[in-house]
Amino acid sequence: MPNDQHQYDVLVIGSGASGLSLALQIAEYADVAVLSKAAVAEGATLYAQGGISAVLDVYDTIDSHVEDTLKAGAGLCNEEIVRFVVEHGRESIQWLIDIGVAFTKNPAPNGHEYHLHQEGGHSHRRIIHAADSTGRVLENTLEALVRSHPRIHLFDHHTAVDLITAAKLGMKENRCLGAYVYDRTNDHVKVLRARFTVLATGGAGKVYLYTSNPDICTGDGIAIASRAGCRVSNMEFIQFHPTCLYHPEAKSFLLSEALRGEGAKLLLPDGQRFLHKYDSREELAPRDIVARAIDQEMKRLGSDFVYLDISHRPKDFIIDHFPTIYARCLQYGFDLTTGPVPVVPAAHYTCGGVVIDRNGLTDIPGLYAIGEVSCSGLHGANRMASNSLLECVVFARSAFLHIRERLAAMPATPVLPEWDESMVTDSDEEVVVSHNWDEIRRFMWDYVSIVRTTKRLERAKHRIRLLHAEIAEYYSNFRITNNLIELRNIALVAALIIESALRRKESRGLHYNTEYPMTSDPATARDTILNWVQEAKRIL
Ligand code: FAD
Ligand code: SIN
Repeated sequence: MPNDQHQYDVLVIGSGASGLSLALQIAEYADVAVLSKAAVAEGATLYAQGGISAVLDVYDTIDSHVEDTLKAGAGLCNEEIVRFVVEHGRESIQWLIDIGVAFTKNPAPNGHEYHLHQEGGHSHRRIIHAADSTGRVLENTLEALVRSHPRIHLFDHHTAVDLITAAKLGMKENRCLGAYVYDRTNDHVKVLRARFTVLATGGAGKVYLYTSNPDICTGDGIAIASRAGCRVSNMEFIQFHPTCLYHPEAKSFLLSEALRGEGAKLLLPDGQRFLHKYDSREELAPRDIVARAIDQEMKRLGSDFVYLDISHRPKDFIIDHFPTIYARCLQYGFDLTTGPVPVVPAAHYTCGGVVIDRNGLTDIPGLYAIGEVSCSGLHGANRMASNSLLECVVFARSAFLHIRERLAAMPATPVLPEWDESMVTDSDEEVVVSHNWDEIRRFMWDYVSIVRTTKRLERAKHRIRLLHAEIAEYYSNFRITNNLIELRNIALVAALIIESALRRKESRGLHYNTEYPMTSDPATARDTILNWVQEAKRIL
């Protein structure tokens, strides 16, 4: 298919909460292409359970939400950004209600009010939700609106491979001009040209063997932006969710923190509670503390799991509030209403990402990053529960406003070079790809997860250096496939995580190194910023 080029005003790479929220708003002013690597709805958003944090209760305050977020972020949040996001909470929720997101209301006589959950780190009930499938309700509402919008063109099963920038083409003034996009339906690479490009590709949980994230979460946007010359920040801060279902077929299914907000207790295999030994907030301590405590107890006892127990709450209450979790546990033989359920921590959220400003703008003119792919300064060294969907909606709006202002002035993109396949052949060694996938995910889990040591990080660095070279060679010799694109990306993201973890000579938030157990003086707290294009040799 020669010269398969498409021109849009705005190219949105990703169709989760952030991408679709932005697409819907900018489509009133522009022609928009939205890419999804799989089906449109598939992504972390679809699986979000707990809900979205915002100051909605009359007794809650902006200052309290800001303070809780800063405290969880362990000295690395950007306070200005935290306030900006929190202050936009109420209007973001109102926008979602206006477009039709059906949040759960209180039972009568307060049926006009929305029900609010409480989660770890929050000092108030402030999590608005749609039972325990907030993400599904949100994603389905957004998808229906986007599908019927005349100015939005959806490209599902299309994977962005790399950005096309003016700098790469040798032009004087750098800006993003679009992307090479692999069409999974016919193994063909298209050129999508755009005046503005938005990375909304989500996180990188799949870099780890055990993760609550769906398969699409391979850190593509972080890798793509890094290769284009953007800075990434704070990649060592990977959040592990404390309570994923322990069952060989459950793929680390999440048991929402809202369960603990409603009284669920964590128990050792002998039925004893243990969190009081680690934090006075016990089950409502932030998740870094809870996940580390579980990890430590599991290692101490040689146990594969601990238990989560909410069976002391009335059966109807549990089924009403957590219908999805109840049904899913039952499917694996565990009844939440009658006894404890085995749980383990798993990689859950990528706090670091592509450096952006408050408009979602990256280091490259015309290129934005919003949602989990980005590092806005909101989460610092540890994200507080349910602040992520809020960030998606707030930054979708600020990026929309920024792009809208600049639409008229931005020239159309020139015709761009086609994807060059002249030097590659079909692979006869797919096993290399699947082997390297497994190897990276396993050593990242064994060497770079909840508790780290410099020795294990050095081992991981050695492995990733070898694998990176092997993957780069493979990539330059063989025709691309979706597996290969993702492998190349997880290898780069793993390298960024390892290097960031090695550079932090302290323990802070989600990063815990046994050789540097102390948190350094707050005045010296710094983000870890890497620029792949300038530092690849040091990072590997
Ligand atoms: P996603 O929703 O992950 O969407 C990413 C999109 O990018 C997808 O459409 C994907 O196909 C596309 N994409 C990726 N790479 C490419 C590529 N190369 N080319 C083309 N398209 C690409 N947060 C909360 O605030 N509250 C919660 O209750 C909550 N619960 C959670 C429960 C689970 C199980 C998980 C995994 C996360 C949860 N989170 C929660 C976190 C939150 O869901 C995510 O951070 C958020 O949904 C991310 O949205 P996003 O739009 O950035 O990315
Ligand atoms: C959960 O419901 O526990 C997940 C919430 C989040 O990740 O923000």
